Amino acid sequence: MIVGNKVRFRALEDDDQPLLVAWLNDPEISRLVGGFSFPASVSAQREWFARAKSDSKNQRWMVESLEGEPLGLTGLWQIDWQNRHALTALKLGAPSARGKGYGTDAIMTLMAYAFFQVGLNRLWGEILPYNLGSYKAYVERCGWRVEGVSRQHIYREGQFHDQLRVAVLKEDFLAHPEVARYTPKAPEHTISVLPEHRVTWPGEGAP
Ligand SMILES: CC(C)(COP(=O)(O)OP(=O)(O)OC[C@H]1O[C@@H](n2cnc3c(N)ncnc32)[C@H](O)[C@@H]1OP(=O)(O)O)[C@@H](O)C(=O)NCCC(=O)NCCS
Repeated sequence: MIVGNKVRFRALEDDDQPLLVAWLNDPEISRLVGGFSFPASVSAQREWFARAKSDSKNQRWMVESLEGEPLGLTGLWQIDWQNRHALTALKLGAPSARGKGYGTDAIMTLMAYAFFQVGLNRLWGEILPYNLGSYKAYVERCGWRVEGVSRQHIYREGQFHDQLRVAVLKEDFLAHPEVARYTPKAPEHTISVLPEHRVTWPGEGAP
């Protein structure tokens, strides 16, 4: 479980698949996100889920309220363990969950987890130029930067649209005014090891 201030993330379960399919098939969400899929079925989704469980480079989590209500989906995709970066995205499935600060908290929580627990240094993402909610949450609220524009990268509703390439570095996150609310707390106690409990290595302590 990954816990933020307004939301938490948990592993996906078999029982979540119908809800994920409903979000995948929602035309309003499809319009706002860059990925494309043909209409999805629950059975195909379950097959995908069985394969995806053991994928160490792509991890998806259910975003839920602190009371356990499912709100959306986030994760780390294309994790590059050598260069320590990953793609991320967020979709809050229920329209009633949007505009209440859950998205901002989910992005901050995701950054804290990626930078302080997984050990990543950079996260990147993609935003359609008419997705004002996403731009405000990632860029204006959470300190992401626009690094470029992929021209006519996405075809939606009969038109090509540019796509903003956005990213954040660990150092950007550390400079965020709200970072202290997401930083892991220092341990309250550290152990004092007595000399008699230590291994003495040959030559150690010799003048
Ligand atoms: C985009 C999204 C993640 C933002 O999360 P959220 O919880 O709705 O956003 P927050 O409540 O944290 O608000 C962040 C800011 O965005 C604004 N905002 C949120 N949704 C908005 C919308 N549809 N239109 C305009 N502004 C919006 C909020 O008013 C707030 O602005 P402020 O800083 O000026 O007060 C969420 O709305 C969502 O999942 N939307 C559908 C799918 C999607 O677009 N995913 C992102 C793909 S890249």
